[in-house]
Amino acid sequence: MYRYDEQDHKLVRERVAQFRGQTERYLAGELKEEEFLPLRLQNGLYVQRLAPMLRIAVPYGLMNSAQVRRLAHITRKYDKGYAHFTTRQNVQLNWPNLEDVPDILAELAEVEMHAVQTSGNCIRNTTTDQFAGVARDELVDPRPYCELIRQWSTFHPEFAFLPRKFKIAVCGADQDRAAIRAHDIGVQIVKNDKGEVGFQVLVGGGLGRTPILGVAIRDFLPETHLLSYLEAIVRVYNQLGRRDNKFKARIKILVKAMGAEEFARRVEAEWEQIKDGADELTPEAIRWAKRFFPEPEYKSIANGHGEAVLRDHAGEDKAFARWLERNTFPHRVNGYQAVTLSTKPTGIPPGDVTDRQLEAIADLADKYSFGEIRVTHEQNVVLADVEQEKLFELWQEARKNGFATPNIGTLTDMICCPGGDYCSLANAKSIPVAEAIQRKFDDLDYLYDIGDLDLNISGCMNACGHHHIGHIGILGVDKKGEEFYQVQLGGSSNEKASLGKVLGPSFSRDEMPNTIGKILDVFVENRHPDELFIDTYNRIGLQPFKERVYAKAS
Ligand code: HEM
Ligand code: SF4
Repeated sequence: MYRYDEQDHKLVRERVAQFRGQTERYLAGELKEEEFLPLRLQNGLYVQRLAPMLRIAVPYGLMNSAQVRRLAHITRKYDKGYAHFTTRQNVQLNWPNLEDVPDILAELAEVEMHAVQTSGNCIRNTTTDQFAGVARDELVDPRPYCELIRQWSTFHPEFAFLPRKFKIAVCGADQDRAAIRAHDIGVQIVKNDKGEVGFQVLVGGGLGRTPILGVAIRDFLPETHLLSYLEAIVRVYNQLGRRDNKFKARIKILVKAMGAEEFARRVEAEWEQIKDGADELTPEAIRWAKRFFPEPEYKSIANGHGEAVLRDHAGEDKAFARWLERNTFPHRVNGYQAVTLSTKPTGIPPGDVTDRQLEAIADLADKYSFGEIRVTHEQNVVLADVEQEKLFELWQEARKNGFATPNIGTLTDMICCPGGDYCSLANAKSIPVAEAIQRKFDDLDYLYDIGDLDLNISGCMNACGHHHIGHIGILGVDKKGEEFYQVQLGGSSNEKASLGKVLGPSFSRDEMPNTIGKILDVFVENRHPDELFIDTYNRIGLQPFKERVYAKAS
């Protein structure tokens, strides 16, 4: 992973000192609320219902064990002993005291972490595939490009006050696990006929109150031009994006209003001016970035050896076999597998981990996966490089620590925003809905029979829980001061991304588990053998679901 040099350390330390001064002046009444607001936002600090919320950047979801141990310590010392993983691969603290935040940032800086640009109208953390570098369907490892984008975008003086927040995601594999079409810019790594690396560039995706999927404005951008082209896009947006209306300020609105073709034309014109300038990525610069992601020291393992060990264990232990099937992912290197630690046991808010669990994650990473941890878009944790021979042992330890719920990819592995329990923008609570659904559907055989299914929950139309792109999406709505939930079906976040359609009138919280049950019944009755929910939905459409869910009791 990227390691700070002396300059990086200095920058981050200075930023902490600066924020310490700003916080002290605010607390002393020398800075007004509205003066402090942009300063705290630039340092990841929101003020929420019950306490401030601090969002800490995890560049493209990657951390080392020392960083995770430091997070454990911070949650224990300054918070309530737990942290929350987000869909954009960051970490949030829900209960810090404002006066402690400079100390928290100082402790983070010691392990090369910060909260810069995790909120506010700037280019946010670049996200990517949690299986980057190990996935078998990967064309090119996206992490060096993410790092180059991170260095270009963080502290970019021109882009500190964009019309609105700006999110970039990069995918280097066939399967899009980073939801690039739901981002302001989505970058898909491709190769041309000559085998040269380049990028398909999508713009104008975003969720929130106006969900739109990104569209390609360039099918092959040569590798060397990545940063200059991104710069051209953000510059056009910065100049022409709306600043008069917060709800129309995202790039998606500009691209839609202008038309993708006209937007692309303007970007190309801007890019012509700068494409051979300072942002050019020379082969040397690319090699330099790649050096931070060397191949780990994999053992050379005989073909089939790891699988044979796994078969033996799986044959003896059904629970292990289930976990192996659901929570591990094929690795490109012989004898290795990637593991997803589930943060979704029933009754725990999706994405929440305790201080002790953070320490356990760090220990597991040191013992089994070269000391490296990844946060996933689905709010879980990945250990990417585990020897197959060690999986049984790892599973036993993961189980002791509450991470081995074998539900990855199933209905209960849901994405869920903090909702009304924490968030002041919420229309409704999300976490209790997640829990009620998890409790109703806790039979693993049923979940496996249903197969892969993305259920995403947001507590309001801001869509932090990505409800528009869940196969089943749930949105908290306010009806005359009461909390209700609207259901959407047919969304999807991968390379065939689609936006869900509203099923009909909303439901009370108590009705939600049964409503989901009815939707699943329609699926089970209509599916072709082994068909996934989303494929059945695409084949039969919304109507059969609607009829069942809103049928009058006879
Ligand atoms: C509790 C504090 C939070 C607040 C106040 C908050 C606020 C918001 C707002 C206002 C938007 C809509 C912005 C727009 O469309 O321009 C948004 C979008 C989003 N938030 Fe949050 N959020 C919070 C927590 C989270 C968490 C915990 C996650 C991840 C689980 C998250 C992930 C996202 C994502 C992925 C979007 C994307 C929508 C898009 O890009 O169009 N947020 N958030
Ligand atoms: S979707 Fe709404 S309720 Fe949920 S975290 Fe985002 S702003 Fe808050």
